[in-house]
Amino acid sequence: MNNAMTLNNPLALNNGVRMPALGYGVFQSAPEETAVAVEAALAAGYRHIDTAAGYGNEREVGEGIRRSGVDRDDVFIETKVWVSDYGYDQTLHAFEKSAAKLGVSQIDLLILHQPMPQHFERTLEAYRALEQLLADGRVRSIGVSNFMPHHLAALRERTTVVPAVNQVELHPYFTQPAVQRANTQLGIVTQAWSPIGGITFYPGWGENRESVLEDPTIGRIAEAHGKTPAQVMLRWHLQRGRSVIPKSTNAERIAQNIDVFDFALTDDQLKNIDALDRGVRGGPDPDDVDPSTWNLEIPEL
Ligand code: A2P
Repeated sequence: MNNAMTLNNPLALNNGVRMPALGYGVFQSAPEETAVAVEAALAAGYRHIDTAAGYGNEREVGEGIRRSGVDRDDVFIETKVWVSDYGYDQTLHAFEKSAAKLGVSQIDLLILHQPMPQHFERTLEAYRALEQLLADGRVRSIGVSNFMPHHLAALRERTTVVPAVNQVELHPYFTQPAVQRANTQLGIVTQAWSPIGGITFYPGWGENRESVLEDPTIGRIAEAHGKTPAQVMLRWHLQRGRSVIPKSTNAERIAQNIDVFDFALTDDQLKNIDALDRGVRGGPDPDDVDPSTWNLEIPEL
């Protein structure tokens, strides 16, 4: 195992595939910024990139990986199928679209972007396509995102492969204990999106809400360790066994967010951060999502 993999603290998924726990996320990274940012992330030591067909930047993620000079096999690539591509044949084709844009023949982790509660049959068909892609070796692991316990239960009743990962909104102000418990019981890795609470201040989402980055408890813990609030939050996730995919397009913060392997939070500090949960989500409620909410189609190329 090389240094970067050690740094990235691999987690064993339920099918034995190893995934660096800390990945680099590109949600809301403009396509023109993404290739440079991915290159900077790989130079800083990240070996796991999380993107999505719905982010519109898969092509630039692939370009950043190629430009970086890092061997493709040393990078764990995760992407998501968007809801407008749900359905068995549509999702098989969605894989082809994503793989072509990324410029790879195999994807390390392919997940459903979210359940479609009003069209759950199509969600199941999409998942069955992921199972087929896994059986065919086109993807190394499969999973879901934004699934609540009742969505997981419904999926498990009607499909075969246990998802390797469930990527959900998770930061100190919204810790989703019931989702985490359901994931753990099923052997699913919980992966936190908006791990430092970006969703609480993203333009157009929650700019008037309080930012977790300014939380006084986290601030005090950060000061005690000579680290930043973002680093403390990332460390909290990792010590709790979760995967994290912080987003930044700023080179200094990209490097800062992976510099979290030289300190450890105490049990009390972990518990104090757990206790900040307000139970209020920043992003959309997965039960309210319908394709018409988003009106987004994924282009062929
Ligand atoms: P930027 O891209 O300018 O760095 P999340 O991944 O939780 O959604 O958070 C992402 C948001 O947090 C982005 O707005 C990003 O802005 C900002 N961000 C990322 N890393 C840090 C950091 N270390 N300190 C402060 N803000 C950060």
